[in-house]
Amino acid sequence: MAIFKIVEHQLVLMKMRKQIFILSTFILLMGILSCGEKAPEKKTESTTNPVSTNATGEDNYKKFCVACHGADGDMGMAGAKSLPKSALSQQEREDIISNGKGTMPGFNQKLDPEAIKKVAEYTLTLK
Ligand code: HEC
Repeated sequence: MAIFKIVEHQLVLMKMRKQIFILSTFILLMGILSCGEKAPEKKTESTTNPVSTNATGEDNYKKFCVACHGADGDMGMAGAKSLPKSALSQQEREDIISNGKGTMPGFNQKLDPEAIKKVAEYTLTLK
């Protein structure tokens, strides 16, 4: 009764395929669901008021400023002024960081005044 053996074998294979199909659909669904959960979280983060975190001036500098000013402050990307060479005072730096200047964006939507103060202090330490 070899024919039965073959049919049986085929049935087992089909079952396995079905299980794999169900499993992968499940995994895919989980992926979609978890993406759906994360998306609104991100939105609220960027639309809320400036964040007050425990981040140091250096943390925020690395996060928001390095792209143009570079780690040492004098990379000069997009016409960014050299921070080590800048003669601006703490207050003048805070103003530019808050409101932006030329191609530099203002950060008052992303950082609260305390964080801006700290990041300005950090730029004064760049040599
Ligand atoms: C998109 C690029 C870009 C980013 C990001 C950026 N800057 Fe700037 N920054 C510039 C440019 C360009 C200037 C020169 C503006 C001008 O004078 O026209 C500048 C100028 C400055 C100045 C004034 C320097 C001087 O002597 O005039 C300070 C201080 C400064 N940036 C600090 C920061 C800090 C701190 C951050 C991060 C919170 C930051 N920048 C992020 C491009 C950038």
